[in-house]
Amino acid sequence: MTGPAPDAEALRERAVATLTTARARTTLLTSCVEDPDLTAQHSPLMSPLVWDLAHIGNQEEQWLLRTVAGREAIRPEIDGIYDAFEHPRSARPSLPLLPPAEARAYAAEVRGRALDVLEGTAFHGTRLTEAGFAFGMIAQHEQQHDETMLITHQLRTGPAALTAPDPEPAPLHTGPAEVLVPGGPFTMGTSDEPWALDNERPAHRREVAPFHIDTAPVTNGAYQAFIDDGGYDDERWWTPDGWAHIRRAAITAPLFWRRDGKQWLRRRFGVTEVVPANEPVVHVCWYEADAYARWAGRRLPTEAEWEKAARHDPAGDRSTRYPWGDADPGPEHANLGQRHLRPAPAGSYPEGESPLGVRQLIGDVWEWTSSDFLPYPGFRAFPYKEYSEVFFGPDHKVLRGGSFAVDAVACRGTFRNWDYPIRRQIFSGFRTARSAAV
Ligand code: AVJ
Ligand code: FE
Repeated sequence: MTGPAPDAEALRERAVATLTTARARTTLLTSCVEDPDLTAQHSPLMSPLVWDLAHIGNQEEQWLLRTVAGREAIRPEIDGIYDAFEHPRSARPSLPLLPPAEARAYAAEVRGRALDVLEGTAFHGTRLTEAGFAFGMIAQHEQQHDETMLITHQLRTGPAALTAPDPEPAPLHTGPAEVLVPGGPFTMGTSDEPWALDNERPAHRREVAPFHIDTAPVTNGAYQAFIDDGGYDDERWWTPDGWAHIRRAAITAPLFWRRDGKQWLRRRFGVTEVVPANEPVVHVCWYEADAYARWAGRRLPTEAEWEKAARHDPAGDRSTRYPWGDADPGPEHANLGQRHLRPAPAGSYPEGESPLGVRQLIGDVWEWTSSDFLPYPGFRAFPYKEYSEVFFGPDHKVLRGGSFAVDAVACRGTFRNWDYPIRRQIFSGFRTARSAAV
């Protein structure tokens, strides 16, 4: 008689803990405002918060209760309302949504049953439950919607509902402004990270030519120099689509910025403040990131370059889970999990740097890359095409590394996010790169 694999119990505890952490955050995000703010639409780009709440419960019911455990639907009539593909976000306020109290009760009932299912499910035998994948997937899904809800909170006007301590002021970073990443192949993606999602798989070799990459994300101060230099009025820096877009939408600065005489102010979670010069710029779209890079005589990194900078350890020919190694993220490594409601100053987190000395690759701001969102060689949709596959193609650009609003369970060196190049309500920034002479 053999017991479970030595780490099965640890995985089970981790599954319970990550689901519990996610629910605490969901509860915070949906209880810090009154009910009218949960049912209102704060932006046509976003769902009402109460939609996210019940959608979180509905996804959990579909995967953990119905698919894993074979249970009957609790409320089959609501599936269509919470199917993200049936109704665009802008149409969701007019749906017959569960009111806040019912949405809370539904999500809580699903969770109670899901924890029972978790206790009774073997973490091996089927691909969906292997190493607790389905539970990890659902915890990540909830955390992704928690970031989405935090974006909604940022778009919401009115007094602050959320507060958090600021990150530590960063000691002045005196290292080089950019780092040389040597050319050669590295392993991109993963085949053995148990809760990695389908688009991160499989691991495969990628050839990358030598390049230089910024040590830290581009700061507000550097971005202001681009604005001051007339960057938004100079067609040279913009792709044709980008130029057309910023003209049509009358974009002249990052979202939430407002000029006040000589200085720039921004609105951040209900508070207006001077834009801090040493913090990574956030709320820029891909077109703005791309234009800034061209103005600076540089370019955005490709997705493969970004991942090589984040995971390649030149001391051994293997890719690590994170820039700092294989250890799960701790508060000393990265600004994650809504611990702070802002990015940390550029140059922060020396303990999180990569072997080559690149900082803040994980956390702080999502980083735009130059790459379209495409499948890796050997990709197979799992467990559903609507997570990644339907989004592959030239319409979406890849973002890497996660923001301050991403939880550790939904962020790793292989994690891939994507969005339209016009989007900037997301917590998006960037760093720049340049090819090295060969
Ligand atoms: C991976 C962040 C692009 O929010 O659209 C949530 C995640 N997928 N529910 C999104 C997701 C289904 C997705 N992103
Ligand atoms: Fe979803």
